[in-house]
Amino acid sequence: MKNSGLLFWRRYLHRPLGVGAVAPSGASLAKAMVQTLAPGAGDVIVEIGPGTGPFTRALLASGVAPAKLILVEFDPEFVRHLRRKFPGVTVLQGDAQELPRLLKEQGHGKVPRILSGLPLRSMPEAVRTGISRAMATSLSDDGMLVQFSYFLAPPLAEAEVAACGLKARRARAVMANIPPAFVWRYSRNA
Ligand SMILES: C[S@@+](CC[C@H](N)C(=O)[O-])C[C@H]1O[C@@H](n2cnc3c(N)ncnc32)[C@H](O)[C@@H]1O
Repeated sequence: MKNSGLLFWRRYLHRPLGVGAVAPSGASLAKAMVQTLAPGAGDVIVEIGPGTGPFTRALLASGVAPAKLILVEFDPEFVRHLRRKFPGVTVLQGDAQELPRLLKEQGHGKVPRILSGLPLRSMPEAVRTGISRAMATSLSDDGMLVQFSYFLAPPLAEAEVAACGLKARRARAVMANIPPAFVWRYSRNA
């Protein structure tokens, strides 16, 4: 955890806008994200922007099999760290805007569960729109996407969400996180 914190800080100094936070998410937010996602046994789960892996750790601790987990991370140092720390988990280095292609290369189409730790509301609008579209179009019909945000407004771009027939619901508030965060869920039946 100490090493993860240092690595996170170092990568924040290197690429502040892309990392988008000064510290990894806390255990209470990680637990709330995983409880909201509530994956079924055997569901393929895609985690976007894992950083040093607080949500990955919580997913595995909840019983998710490493072979069912695909991480998509932009930063090569985080990717190396994740591969060392989570053997058996598929760690892809890439841009979330390319999610449909990245999944296709792994032999997957649409997936039932996506969990995102991206700082969407702090990203340029065109990037937020591109990532929202890529995640929404990668979700299967009965799928669910979970995303946290430090802001009250819904994190994904609304037009992209509506175009895929998804509805947004603010599922939880985690006041114990620093800063406090909201957990949003997107699905076709909210
Ligand atoms: C705010 S950090 C959150 C890390 C972790 N999920 C947590 O909650 O502590 C955002 C992470 O998303 C990654 N990231 C940013 N833009 C990305 C993109 N376009 N595609 C994939 N990962 C990205 C960053 O490198 C960083 O690891």
